[in-house]
Amino acid sequence: MVLYFSGTGNSRFAAQAIARICQDELVSINKLMRQRVLDPYNTPYEFSSDSPFVVVCPTYCYHLPLVVESFLKDSRFVGSQEMYFFLTCGSGTGKAYDHAAQICREIGMRFMGLASAKMPENFITLFRAPEPDDAVGIVRASLTQAESASKQIMAGRMLTDVNAGIAVPEPFLRLFYRFFVHDRLFTVKENCTGCGVCAALCPTVNIRMKDGVPTWGGNCTQCQSCIAICPNDAIEFGRRTRKKRRYYLYSDGRQKFPSEQKTDNDP
Ligand SMILES: Cc1cc2nc3c(=O)[nH]c(=O)nc-3n(C[C@H](O)[C@H](O)[C@H](O)COP(=O)(O)O)c2cc1C
Repeated sequence: MVLYFSGTGNSRFAAQAIARICQDELVSINKLMRQRVLDPYNTPYEFSSDSPFVVVCPTYCYHLPLVVESFLKDSRFVGSQEMYFFLTCGSGTGKAYDHAAQICREIGMRFMGLASAKMPENFITLFRAPEPDDAVGIVRASLTQAESASKQIMAGRMLTDVNAGIAVPEPFLRLFYRFFVHDRLFTVKENCTGCGVCAALCPTVNIRMKDGVPTWGGNCTQCQSCIAICPNDAIEFGRRTRKKRRYYLYSDGRQKFPSEQKTDNDP
């Protein structure tokens, strides 16, 4: 079973490829997280699979996103006791290998290793996304890693990440979440049409529409989905995102181009 979390589509794209090659079931963590907020009593995180569990997600501050860690710790896994990880990243996965191994120890699963693929940088509230043509090439190249990891998974072999990057120490991770993972700087420009796509996609259900305008509720994980999916590029994060290109990869593998009116109902 392939479980994925994705803010702007990169990890979903990788998860789709792995599920297709391994001929395995694909499950969206985003959807389950949303369901659990909206209907907590009827959304058990219980997963049953004879094949190994494969967790696919982005790298946040050279670790797994803490929302994914919480999700895994809240879940019950039946059948296979083996868990693989495949992380997408802008540059490197740093301590994610150790982080994933630690989570497995805590939840009683057998850690089967971690592999990764560089994908377009989506963290535009801090950095810049690549140019569209470059992004197409990066996405295409990432398939090689997804294919090679899938073969290892099917053969029951451990994955060993070759793309380590920076080993960020624990205190830095806490500072990162404190100073960068918040929604205090989100604003909406006049060209917002109140379509509600941002609210519909937010994995933590942190965005509510009030009088036709999105408002953020303080439980943001900085996944970038709202700012990236907005069809009118009407969302800004303080001054940091002004005039910056938004990056979003749809489930059919196409990129969103500026002011495109297409939405995404398949998080
Ligand atoms: C909050 C945040 C933190 C990130 N931290 C890292 C990082 O430490 N290392 C890295 O290589 N990429 C980092 N990135 C980039 C993403 O991991 C990368 O673009 C990923 O493919 C996005 O996946 P998604 O589209 O499935 O959300 C970060 C992105 C965000 C939004």
